[in-house]
Amino acid sequence: MKTVYLNGEFIAADQARISVFDRGFLFGDSVYEVIPFYQGQGFRLDEHLQRLEHSLRGIQITAEYDWRNILKRLVELNGGGNLSVYLQISRGSSDRRSHIYDADMVPTVFASCSPINDIYDTGLDSVDGVRAIVTADLRWGRCDIKSTGLLPNILVMQQARLAGVEEALMIREGLLTEGASCNLFVVDKGVVYTPKRGSDILGGTTRELILQLADENGIPAQEVDIDYERLLAADEVWVSSSTRAVVPVLEIDGQPVADGKKGPLWARMFELFTCYQRNLMKG
Ligand code: PDD
Repeated sequence: MKTVYLNGEFIAADQARISVFDRGFLFGDSVYEVIPFYQGQGFRLDEHLQRLEHSLRGIQITAEYDWRNILKRLVELNGGGNLSVYLQISRGSSDRRSHIYDADMVPTVFASCSPINDIYDTGLDSVDGVRAIVTADLRWGRCDIKSTGLLPNILVMQQARLAGVEEALMIREGLLTEGASCNLFVVDKGVVYTPKRGSDILGGTTRELILQLADENGIPAQEVDIDYERLLAADEVWVSSSTRAVVPVLEIDGQPVADGKKGPLWARMFELFTCYQRNLMKG
C-alpha cells in the first residue's frame, strides 16, 4: 500500500481522510506541484518550491512547512527510486461552505507519489512523438498560478482523446499559450521559439531548463508570440513538462509537422537534457 502525507502524518493511502468542507474539494481553492524524483533526489526541486511559493502567495495562502524534508521522507517511505511527487495545498476546511474565507484557516497539505520512467537513461528511440489538436484556451487569467482548478485542461484533453490524439494545445486571442499540462516550443530555421512568460502560461520548470540549455549550448532561443500559422509552418514542435521532459509533436490538427518525423533539434535538446540529468545523478 502506498504511503501518503496528510497534514503532518505519513499514512497508508486508504487511511487518508479530508473533510467534505475542504475548500480544495468545494472550490478548487488550492494549488499544487508535480515534482520528479530520480534515484530518490528531487529534480529542479528549488525551482518547483519557488513556483509553489509563487502559487501560494498568488492566492494568499500562508503555508510554511519544511517541504524538502516532507518530500524526501515520503519518497523514502515509498521505496525511493524514480517517483513523481504530487503535492497539494488547499486553504483548508471550515464547518460550512462559504465563498468568503477566514484569513487564519489551517491549510490542508497532501502529498503522494507515483512511479515515473527514468528519462535520463532512455535513448531517442524510446520517445514517441505525439499528435495534437489546437483548441480554445478557456482558462482564467492567472495561469501562472498552478491551481488545481483544472476543468478547462481536462476538458481539452478529453477533446483530444475523442479526436484520437494524445495532446491538446490551447489558443487564446489568436496566440498559442501552452498544452493542457505542458509548455510549447516551435523551431523555425534553427531557432527555438516559445510563448512569452506571463499570466497566460505556467512558468514551467522544464521550459526554463530548456531555455537554459539552449543558451549554454549556442542554440538561439526566443520568447515570442506564436500564432496558428507560425505553429503549422514550424520545422519542429515540442512540448515539455516535468514528467515527460521534452517530447516532439509530429502532427497538428491532422497535418504533419514538416515531414512528420522527430526533428534534429529536438534530438539535440533531448540529448542535452538527459545528459544534464545524468550529471546531476552523479552529483
Ligand atoms: N503539469 N503548463 C501546464 C498547464 C502544466 O500543468 C505543466 C505541468 C506545465 C509544465 O511545467 P513543468 O515543466 O514545471 O512540469 C506547463 C504537471 C506535470 C501536471 O499537471 O501534472
